[in-house]
Amino acid sequence: MSAPQIPRPVKASRSGSLRGTAAIPGDKSISHRALILGALAVGETGISGLLEAEDVLNTAKAMRQLGATVTRDGPGQWRVWGKGVGGWEEPADVLDFGNSGTGSRLVMGAMSTTPILAVFTGDASLRERPMKRVLDPLTKFGATYEAREGGLMPLTLRGTDMPICIDYQVTVASAQVKSALILGALGAAGRSRIEQSALTRDHTEKMLKAFGADIAVEKLPDGEAVHVMGEVELKPCPVEVPRDPSSAAFPLVAALIVPGSEVSIPGVLLNERRIGLIDTLIEMGAHIAIANPRESGGEKIGDLIVKHSVLKGVDVPAERAPSMIDEYPILAIAAAFAEGRTVMRGLEELRVKESDRLAAIVAGLKANGVTVEETGDGMIVTGGDVTGGGRVTTHMDHRIAMSFLVMGLAAKNPVTVDDAAMIATSFPEFEPLMENLGANFRRVNA
Ligand code: S3P
Repeated sequence: MSAPQIPRPVKASRSGSLRGTAAIPGDKSISHRALILGALAVGETGISGLLEAEDVLNTAKAMRQLGATVTRDGPGQWRVWGKGVGGWEEPADVLDFGNSGTGSRLVMGAMSTTPILAVFTGDASLRERPMKRVLDPLTKFGATYEAREGGLMPLTLRGTDMPICIDYQVTVASAQVKSALILGALGAAGRSRIEQSALTRDHTEKMLKAFGADIAVEKLPDGEAVHVMGEVELKPCPVEVPRDPSSAAFPLVAALIVPGSEVSIPGVLLNERRIGLIDTLIEMGAHIAIANPRESGGEKIGDLIVKHSVLKGVDVPAERAPSMIDEYPILAIAAAFAEGRTVMRGLEELRVKESDRLAAIVAGLKANGVTVEETGDGMIVTGGDVTGGGRVTTHMDHRIAMSFLVMGLAAKNPVTVDDAAMIATSFPEFEPLMENLGANFRRVNA
């Protein structure tokens, strides 16, 4: 089981203008998928720009445990020799996914239609996150599982030797659940149909097409259905991982709220199911220019140029939530510096992230003198000058840590986060990258 890390408190203080170029690491969602699809393909998949953060490294390790050969040639340059759909080997030891819901849930799906047994675990945060949302639908293929009370890790999943295709409606707005079922369907004879009303991120569908899968997306009046043919061989395909918009969000909002700032962020993934934050910030009055829009590896990318802006509060539509689900912590920080009220709703899924993010954001804002009201499914932030001076409990959540460190750069008084260690799960370069732009961070005693 993952060992608890030693907490690393960090204090962020008011900074001069932020300036320069922020080279963001590779997208986390695409990095996990590149490793998993590489391990399901027959032959060698080359990956460039892979995110080398703890979450993704745990997925790479799991792929090795399941029989794939995974090598690193240089920074971000990896190769995977897959065993083919249905060809994964039974792991000799527990699969430990650390902090990563995505890695663990996608791998559960991918192994559920192969007759092997695997034990899944993770850190204290992941061991409290709901897994039934993935495990119960996987039983429709014929897989079986045993888990702790409430469907928690550690858990054992036994893939089936007689997988049957499924027609399943995913009721939670989760790309992880949809993706787990799509990956499971690859091993089940016949055509599976996976329906979802929320338009969640579609990287699995796009990448599978590039790997030669027989997959089609049907638009529905309310959502869409993914049709996947099982028992089709995947052919290796080189993957170029674009830079992660969810990580770019931190220097982006920092540049907006610190007076005099101008920051450019090149080569960011601009998949339309990932850019709800950019749309929202532009509605709030943010100066964000998108230069050089282009395609890379089947995904839209572009360069962001961001300048300090006077922001105003807006009403964020609930339907936009899936396209910015990881960005609410940093949006709440932008909202705290905006004039007027920002209303965010449709955020039930935030309760089951690396922490109860809704509660963690509200507590962090309150600790720093921001007026915020928690509603049943969201929050209302009333912005203005931010007093700061608070100490924020991050609950093992990397995005809570990075968001409140950004807050400290523009608040009147410094903001301290109790533990910045978890930032390594998604964005290990965050602190030096921000300091290079002019951010004032300081390590403090626990
Ligand atoms: C992800 C899906 C989202 C997101 C997570 C990455 C993915 O989770 O929060 O960071 O790569 O599929 P849910 O599917 O639980 O919404």
